[in-house]
Amino acid sequence: MDVDQDLRDLVDANPGQGSFEEYRHLRNAIRAKAPCRLLVFGVGKDSRFWLEANAGGTTVFVEHEPEWIRVTREKLPGVDVVQVSYDTRRTQWKALMERRDRLFMEDLPNRILSTNWDVIFVDSPQGGSRKRPGRMKSIYTASVLARRSTDVDVLVHDCDRPVEASYAHRYLGPERLVEQVHRLRHYRLRPTAAG
Ligand SMILES: C[S@@+](CC[C@H](N)C(=O)[O-])C[C@H]1O[C@@H](n2cnc3c(N)ncnc32)[C@H](O)[C@@H]1O
Repeated sequence: MDVDQDLRDLVDANPGQGSFEEYRHLRNAIRAKAPCRLLVFGVGKDSRFWLEANAGGTTVFVEHEPEWIRVTREKLPGVDVVQVSYDTRRTQWKALMERRDRLFMEDLPNRILSTNWDVIFVDSPQGGSRKRPGRMKSIYTASVLARRSTDVDVLVHDCDRPVEASYAHRYLGPERLVEQVHRLRHYRLRPTAAG
């Protein structure tokens, strides 16, 4: 029996999103730390898998699309989804690269800002076309939250695209990249000897 058949079914039901190998890698990364504190940028058909992988832990989703929030809450009663908004367009990504003042997501609640996260997964907002927000703010904010945490795995999807690749490189750092599975980059931030 294939223990990951549920992920194969997810891929079939969710075209254009993660690959089987990407989802399996992410699930293993969560399970390795579960029960833990897991922060996910973006809801979707995959959400229940991360909730299940982190059973007994704390899982918080950050989402900007009201309709996706509604559907997710309907399908997963009790799920913790925090609504945010993005004020960027993907076309701004080069101009915003060093604009930390513009990149931080000010609308995150204190309970997200003050949590010591174990795993952060960034797969939102959309960045597939020029009019979409692009992931500049979510990747930068994830990097800030990661630096406030003590030992955190940060996984960024769609790193075949210039915005995701460049922002992950700039703010998470190639020296912290532990693995890449297809378009999914996996970074690990650990406390330095200097503290
Ligand atoms: C790349 S999608 C997130 C996909 C999700 N992590 C998954 O693997 O199914 C980014 C944003 O698009 C919306 N979205 C989620 N699932 C979607 C789907 N299957 N098709 C189109 N948009 C989706 C949500 O607003 C989400 O925050």
